[in-house]
Amino acid sequence: MTSAEIRVTVRTASPYDVVVGTGLGGRLPEVIGDALRVAIIHPEALVARGDACQASLVEAGYEAHAIEVPNEESAKTSDVAAYCWSVLGRSGFTRSDVIVGLGGGSTTDLAGFVAATWLRGVRLVQVPTTLLGMVDAAVGGKTGINTAEGKNLVGAFHEPIAVLCDLAALDTLPAGEVISGLAEIIKCGFVADPRILDMVEQEPSGARDIGSDVLRELVVRAIRVKAGVVADDLTETAAADPTGATPGREVLNYGHTFGHAVERVERYQFRHGAAVAIGMCYAAELARLAGRLDDATADRHRHVLELVGLPISYRDGLWESLHEAMRVDKKARGDALRFIILAGLARPTVLAAPDLTLLTAAYDAISSD
Ligand code: GLY
Repeated sequence: MTSAEIRVTVRTASPYDVVVGTGLGGRLPEVIGDALRVAIIHPEALVARGDACQASLVEAGYEAHAIEVPNEESAKTSDVAAYCWSVLGRSGFTRSDVIVGLGGGSTTDLAGFVAATWLRGVRLVQVPTTLLGMVDAAVGGKTGINTAEGKNLVGAFHEPIAVLCDLAALDTLPAGEVISGLAEIIKCGFVADPRILDMVEQEPSGARDIGSDVLRELVVRAIRVKAGVVADDLTETAAADPTGATPGREVLNYGHTFGHAVERVERYQFRHGAAVAIGMCYAAELARLAGRLDDATADRHRHVLELVGLPISYRDGLWESLHEAMRVDKKARGDALRFIILAGLARPTVLAAPDLTLLTAAYDAISSD
């Protein structure tokens, strides 16, 4: 291990390490360990990286297969999963073999789902190549695909045996994607680790710079937050507590109820992080209007998100569509909406079934012409 490498252990029933460093390309054999076959699931856009990974695994003595899938969300379909199952079947993939998910959050969600379902579960190593993937999708064991009725409606909890976050992979990431990833990092700041907010406020340009020590520390801090939350509530069962006193993993949904609605209204042509940023501003206004959150913390949302170039308002005149989209959100209970809000900095709680007047007032507070 080089000195610049940091390991965060996710202490679930089967603990695993998330390794954060630069130039981790050669580390796969070490984390895969004993296996005959390895399948690397990667998107079309990463064909060169997929081929290089396959070659290095062959050199290390594995029978390695690269499975190319469509880019981004187009990979998360039952047809693509069936294609992966068919490659595994033709390759004679057994329970002791390993799947590697190499790509952004959509690829790692698909690879995780294929690993969860093939032979009722084979080992999985996640190698996220986007900031969002590193701080969220690849860590925590949520896997899934979409159906015509909505996103992530079919899936399973299936934890990886290791996650390799190679910061060198971010070199080619468009600036907009880096900023999008920062929204999930800032979310971790609001729900659990306010030092993240201090760091972004002190060095916003460092936060956006993929080669900086600031971003490296932000990534590690966000992963630590996620690791702590999923270790306590891997399968999000704490959310069953009707009082919301122990929201558990649901805290990671901060900003997502309204954010998912924005994505749906925008027909998913909107960056996830941008939608979550708007969703956090909405949640902050809801909490303020409900008398649960102080003005300074509510205002801080706009300040910190704007500093890194994330949106803090959304178009007005769309309440009906947004409301309908929130009602079909996976986190809704029956007809009652449910939000993670803050009762203070790093004090997440649940706001269940808020009044319509409160919901629309919060929309008014964040909407722009
Ligand atoms: N992305 C939210 C979670 O992993 O629970």
